[in-house]
Amino acid sequence: RQPRILVCGGAGYIGSHMVRMLLRHGHEVVVFDNFSQGHRAALPSGIQVIEGDLLDPATLARAFAGRGFDAVYHFAALISVGESVTAPDLYYRNNVVGALNLLDAMRAADCDRLVFSSTAAVYGNPVSDLIAETHPQNPINPYGRSKLMMEQVLEDHARAHGIRSVSFRYFNAAGADPSGGLGEAHDPETHLVPNVLLAALGERPALDIFGTDYDTRDGTCIRDYVHVNDIARAHLAALDWMAGNDGAHVFNLGNGTGFTIREVLEAAEAVTGRKIPVRTAPRRAGDAGILVADSRKARDLLGWQPRIPDIAGIIESAWAWHRAPQYGPFARAEARRA
Ligand code: UFG
Repeated sequence: RQPRILVCGGAGYIGSHMVRMLLRHGHEVVVFDNFSQGHRAALPSGIQVIEGDLLDPATLARAFAGRGFDAVYHFAALISVGESVTAPDLYYRNNVVGALNLLDAMRAADCDRLVFSSTAAVYGNPVSDLIAETHPQNPINPYGRSKLMMEQVLEDHARAHGIRSVSFRYFNAAGADPSGGLGEAHDPETHLVPNVLLAALGERPALDIFGTDYDTRDGTCIRDYVHVNDIARAHLAALDWMAGNDGAHVFNLGNGTGFTIREVLEAAEAVTGRKIPVRTAPRRAGDAGILVADSRKARDLLGWQPRIPDIAGIIESAWAWHRAPQYGPFARAEARRA
């Protein structure tokens, strides 16, 4: 039979792209989501959805009961670095306690494979320009710490309970499925690419550039943007890989090329054909100057090969979604909902 997968956070940005990709590959999918950020309109019709929270073990147990999941993909977490500094309790509760509850439910149901969303934020302020998985991990905010803690919890669960896992340290996820209908819409939106496009659409007065005094070629932060479908593709590969590999493993996911904020802007102006207004603003707390991935491990061990590795292609896919009248409104309506 086809693999049966529970996708926690399947209504979110990366989770919804994952759900679509799993279905395209004929996998059976059940979504677990509390809809605190996710969008119902991001889910395909007819999909099984369990509305629940990882902090509620009873609902989790119900989600697993009798379903025989082969693996869990866990995307359900809080992701705002700034918010994690002011509300660390929220981050540790959702990202650590919630994930522990999920592991308990997996063990109770004899499900022993997990793909976990980690982050480049585990590296803190990097000491080298190209970051491999072995780079020291010194997160500088509670968000990064909550993710690093879970990586360690997963190592211990591999040893003690035989739970197999792959943790992906995403660099900057961006873009949208080129076939349409899915895209990035957070509330409030803090990410660069959607904010640039909202400024291009006139839905923001301007793009605020946070910090122009970094030690980079134009003074703005350098990031490694990676297409959301390429991230999902790595998750698909991880499922097969775990069949032959026990233990807990971590992989970076990035393209290995860094772009400054001004370079992203320039690329977005080229893609949109619009002049995008900007304002310079002070540095944002918790931002590292440069984050660029060495992702050779994912390429070598998982055979991962990004298909939309260039920044123009990534922005083009996001722009198609952001500007499409039939999709943009859903995101905006949903964003106003809360
Ligand atoms: N930025 C702006 N203006 C904006 C939004 C962002 O100048 O309106 C800047 C940020 O200061 C940063 C860069 O653009 O220098 C990218 O910012 P994002 O918020 O898009 O992404 P981050 O690099 O801060 O965060 C991403 C993930 C986090 C993760 C982090 C490190 O969203 O979950 O990478 O891995 F923690």
